[in-house]
Amino acid sequence: MGKAKHYIAVTILTIFFTFVIRGILIYLYRLPVAASAQAVPIDTMFNAHFWLISFLFSLIMVFMLYSVVVFKRKEGDDEPGPYVHGHTGLEILWTVIPVIVVLGFGYWGVIMLNALTAENPDEMTIKVYGQQWSWQFEYPEQEDVTSPTLVLPIDQPILLDMESRDVLHSFWIPEFRVKEDLIPDTTTHLRITPTKLGDYKVRCAEICGFDHANMLADVSVVSQTDFDAWIAERLDVPAYGDMTEAERGEIWHTDFGCAGCHNVTGDPGGAGPTWLGAYGNEELLTDGTTITVDDAYIRKSILDPNAQIVSGFNEGIMPQNYDERISTKEAEILASEGIEIDIIADLISFMRTLEE
Ligand code: CUA
Repeated sequence: MGKAKHYIAVTILTIFFTFVIRGILIYLYRLPVAASAQAVPIDTMFNAHFWLISFLFSLIMVFMLYSVVVFKRKEGDDEPGPYVHGHTGLEILWTVIPVIVVLGFGYWGVIMLNALTAENPDEMTIKVYGQQWSWQFEYPEQEDVTSPTLVLPIDQPILLDMESRDVLHSFWIPEFRVKEDLIPDTTTHLRITPTKLGDYKVRCAEICGFDHANMLADVSVVSQTDFDAWIAERLDVPAYGDMTEAERGEIWHTDFGCAGCHNVTGDPGGAGPTWLGAYGNEELLTDGTTITVDDAYIRKSILDPNAQIVSGFNEGIMPQNYDERISTKEAEILASEGIEIDIIADLISFMRTLEE
């Protein structure tokens, strides 16, 4: 016996605490449901990391605490301890093994990243636009249907082509695990194959200004049949020329991302004033003057957002590129339907319908 019993004890304790600590980590860092094909290998790797971390922590702690407790100096023992100078074999071992483990994880990571970003022959492309503080999705393979929510057919490999309309944002659906930044004037890509029906949320994972925390969009993973029905419904909209101003205004309110900051429910706490009952109100401005929310004020506030700020809100929050985006859209409609539309007038008409 002698030394052997200490080795056996330390081995058993290390194995025991590896399981305990791994259990604690799995509990503390509970992952949301894995809803994409990409989530499976990522979770496997997470799990492997948890095992390794638990084992290393247990190994070091058990050796240290075991020595402190079991080899404590005995009463009356005043002899100096034996002189120990290193152990070449051990030192080589605890250098070589970690090097192999780290390189192994690195290799595994590269292989996995290549697999997750590899082109898929039957993938469907969806365009993603991020802007302060809303998302827009466009389906180029479905006649350019646009939507403020992301609807995905289950088990269909998806390629997301993503672009920011202003600053850096980051596209992240925790249940799908993968994440990618959106960069102005650059297209970035992300591949996702949703594998579980359900409702999720895209959240922005890059600090992008005042209302970053509320830059959310609904995601639905549906059957292929439901997806086709949803597309048909989105396509079955009348031409812009056949709609009333207010009907178009309601579409612009979500399409241009106004809805991200200006709700129509009257809830306080948005990054911008609610639109419910806003039209015709007297408002105190930050410079102390008072204005009436009329056509001229609204138009000016969209085109030059920092000119007049309602008291209680901040300057520099509203995006300043609406002038350009609105004229681009108006030109597109003129080209496709041959009619001239005043998008701001539509928005004002929509606001006028929102009476408290
Ligand atoms: Cu967009 Cu944070």
